Amino acid sequence: MMQFLPGSVRLFLFVSFCCLISAEAGAAVTGPCGNCHTMHNSQDGKTAGSAAYGTGNDRLLRTDCVGCHSSATGDTIITTGGGYLPIVFNTNAYPAQPLAGGNFYYTNLGDSVNDQYGHNVLGIANPDLNIPHVPGKGYGGLPKTITECIGCHQVFTNSPFMYARPGNVLICIDCHVFPKHHADDSATVVGAAGGWYRFIDEVSGIEDDDWEQTVGVADHNEYQGEIVKDGGSMSDWGCMCHNDFHALVNPSGVGVASPWLRHPSDIALPSVGEYAGYTVYDPQVPVARPDLSGYGAPSATVTPGTDQVMCLSCHRAHGSDQPDMLRWPYIAMLTDDPSNPAVGTGCFVCHSTKDG
Ligand code: HEC
Ligand code: HEC
Ligand code: HEC
Ligand code: HEC
Ligand code: HEC
Ligand code: HEC
Repeated sequence: MMQFLPGSVRLFLFVSFCCLISAEAGAAVTGPCGNCHTMHNSQDGKTAGSAAYGTGNDRLLRTDCVGCHSSATGDTIITTGGGYLPIVFNTNAYPAQPLAGGNFYYTNLGDSVNDQYGHNVLGIANPDLNIPHVPGKGYGGLPKTITECIGCHQVFTNSPFMYARPGNVLICIDCHVFPKHHADDSATVVGAAGGWYRFIDEVSGIEDDDWEQTVGVADHNEYQGEIVKDGGSMSDWGCMCHNDFHALVNPSGVGVASPWLRHPSDIALPSVGEYAGYTVYDPQVPVARPDLSGYGAPSATVTPGTDQVMCLSCHRAHGSDQPDMLRWPYIAMLTDDPSNPAVGTGCFVCHSTKDG
């Protein structure tokens, strides 16, 4: 079971060894073991954490997930010493160059407005003040809180919600179920051998070298889609806690063709009509590829008829600077208004005739 340190201890620990970390962006961790591990959780007779947290971290780590992947600076990749550590929680402000998953910054502010901006994770945020139940997945027809999900799931060995925690918050390993920092993920399409795409269990993908800190039409992640359920897509396996929103998993609730009942995910863009115009990849509105095996590199091309709308076409996985963790301001999507500065962005990238 993971132990979680209070913020001040975390940051102190991190500063004490961050600058020695040496790794190649996008590859497995490198550098001396002692940068990251502590053999006895004791130095000169003092435990590395405070007395209250003296039991140490999983796998002899000097700190926990949040402790390593946070920064009090505005940087989202820590590059000191030639090493690279991706930052998902900047404590001072929403970063200017968030990584692909976005950033947990707003959820840390702890009120009902800021809770709309991201997933609420232990060590960063309190339980979500707006969303008491997991949206898009009940059990026995009833909505459930995270605590209720844990009540069943703690006997499992490969699921979210295997570990108890104080309150209805997520922990990083609900989603990154089996982190594999020492796995060689240098293959173009990262699968099981590389610890899966970003350690999301059973989801493959092409991992951009700098986690999309810089992005372009041919410089981006590639996401796995699927044409049958349980095909290992980001929207299905990666977002399984909200499976009722997934077209292939819940056809009666989402629909199987137009007219849809919920917005589809893992459905190909039609090759006709307004969708046919989306042919040049826009990293702000990514699509999933149902078969990544032919991809030697990220592609600048979108192929309507094959490539799919997915959860991450519209959302960021961790959090964003927009309500509902959206990738762009939904409120700016004004239909039939050619003077709108948001013309050609967001929803309009696919629904290219709705902006006027
Ligand atoms: C840059 C940080 C870093 C360095 C350096 C590092 N590790 Fe790790 N190691 C981790 C993290 C994070 C985990 C826990 C999560 C995971 O397995 O991905 C881990 C997990 C492990 C595990 C358990 C999981 C497994 O893959 O077997 C072992 C054993 C391990 N490390 C040994 C070592 C040894 C030995 C060294 C030095 C030769 C070393 N580590 C250097 C970060 C590091
Ligand atoms: C000791 C510091 C340390 C700890 C603790 C740690 N990480 Fe990491 N993590 C790293 C470093 C360094 C990298 C960058 C290595 C690389 O380039 O893939 C990384 C990379 C990652 C990545 C991106 C992998 C990829 O393919 O690019 C994920 C996801 C991740 N960590 C999740 C976690 C989770 C979840 C935990 C807690 C179980 C955790 N980390 C704990 C240091 C740490
Ligand atoms: C709700 C599920 C979820 C939770 C909770 C979560 N992650 Fe992630 N994380 C993802 C997904 C999905 C990606 C891949 C994002 C992408 O490529 O668009 C990701 C990517 C990452 C990366 C690579 C950088 C990036 O933005 O692509 C790191 C590092 C990471 N996560 C660490 C963490 C840590 C540390 C925690 C806990 C504080 C955490 N994650 C909690 C789903 C999650
Ligand atoms: C009554 C017990 C019960 C409750 C409550 C429950 N689950 Fe499950 N869940 C299961 C069982 C059983 C499986 C199938 C496990 C397996 O196949 O290994 C499962 C599987 C899953 C999976 C697929 C991962 C896997 O292990 O196959 C996800 C994701 C999931 N549940 C999410 C949730 C969420 C989110 C909640 C709360 C809203 C929840 N579950 C509540 C019993 C439960
Ligand atoms: C990545 C492409 C993509 C993006 C971005 C996108 N959509 Fe869609 N949308 C689709 C596809 C594909 C369908 C299903 C088309 C079909 O089967 O005819 C769809 C269907 C719909 C439908 C139902 C149409 C029907 O016939 O039932 C509505 C309404 C809709 N989208 C609204 C939106 C809104 C609002 C946004 C922005 C928040 C948005 N979409 C963003 C691709 C996208
Ligand atoms: C076409 C864009 C689009 C796609 C694709 C999409 N979403 Fe959303 N999602 C939105 C928008 C916009 C909102 C907020 C406004 C609304 O609900 O109408 C939202 C809201 C949500 C919410 C909050 C619901 C609540 O009860 O407050 C969750 C959870 C969510 N989405 C999960 C998902 C998951 C999981 C997928 C993939 C299976 C997905 N979304 C696919 C656009 C999208």
